[in-house]
Amino acid sequence: MDHTVVLGTGSCLPDRKLTNADLEKMVDTSDEWITTRTGIRTRRIAGKGEQNYQLASRAAEKALAMAGVEAADIDLLIVATLTPHMMMPSSACFVQAEIGATGAFAFDLNAACSGFLYGLDVADKYITGRPDMKVLLVGSETLSARVNWQDRNTCILFGDGAGAVVLGGERGRGGVLASHLFSDGRLWRLLYMDSPESLNPDLVQESRKGCHLQMTGRDVFKYAVRAMEDAVAGVLAEQKVAVDEIGLMIPHQANIRILNKLMDRLGIPEEKVYINVDKYGNTSAASIPIALDEANRQGLLHRGDKILFCSFGGGFTWGSMLMQW
Ligand code: ACO
Repeated sequence: MDHTVVLGTGSCLPDRKLTNADLEKMVDTSDEWITTRTGIRTRRIAGKGEQNYQLASRAAEKALAMAGVEAADIDLLIVATLTPHMMMPSSACFVQAEIGATGAFAFDLNAACSGFLYGLDVADKYITGRPDMKVLLVGSETLSARVNWQDRNTCILFGDGAGAVVLGGERGRGGVLASHLFSDGRLWRLLYMDSPESLNPDLVQESRKGCHLQMTGRDVFKYAVRAMEDAVAGVLAEQKVAVDEIGLMIPHQANIRILNKLMDRLGIPEEKVYINVDKYGNTSAASIPIALDEANRQGLLHRGDKILFCSFGGGFTWGSMLMQW
């Protein structure tokens, strides 16, 4: 039987670094507060030529080069994003045009910070049905355009970037073993971002807050830890895999305290968890594929290793996936 495997990875980060010292000049905060509460030291901010689809395209080209697959041979192109270049057409269509993926059908997928995991699951379902398919999946975000740079509660947390994978079917390799995905729309008000110029009647009372990201940080923290712990426990139990059999865990990079709590509760040592939140902050749907690409290029992923992914984000959406590299 064919399984969905990763044929290549790529990532692209904007050039401009925004440090905690830079933020100290913009809002009432300090490097010490940000570092101890979040673990974030710098984040990247998109500039000219670094729009969502442009970052996505550069990451995609690197993943295609590693996979040895031509853009024109991609059958399906998905961009996971909550900050698309335009409302219509999708960022995926912009990427398609930019890289020449002329044979693909293309669409965006929005599951907030869980978008990449949701996208992997969708791609896996297509490839399981048609193993000769080649899928390009990109997580790409330009959150800097949508955070309120006067709100110290949120602006310190986020950054821009893109990561991509080329996926295909292969016999004799483990590939995607299982995924557990969840949503709970009842909790949307704890983390949301209204549309620009929206006349959304649900948000009339809050309209002066504009279209920026809104967050009830403490509640998000609490739910995120519990939800990811449960999702990981579920996928490991289903596959009868013990924590010490995991080669590397690549979690959504939201915040070091969330990750520390998660590691504690799962009993997974820090050296088995890939962490780059210090460099890029929270890049939402891009965080897992950026981390995956870095781990891959550093030679941390070995054939046969069990790789564990988990995420949590607005919606709420969350989930876990187990993959054999
Ligand atoms: N600098 C200095 N002080 C600040 C800052 C800042 N940047 N931000 C908030 N504060 C202040 C608050 O105003 C508050 O002051 P007060 O006591 O005078 O009112 C004080 O610090 C404590 O604020 P809390 O919100 O209680 O701080 P907490 O310890 O909960 O940390 C944080 C806040 C970091 C946002 C935390 O709640 C958190 O990590 N939540 C998860 C949020 C997250 O990761 N969201 C990303 C999207 S979801 C996802 O990707 C998983």
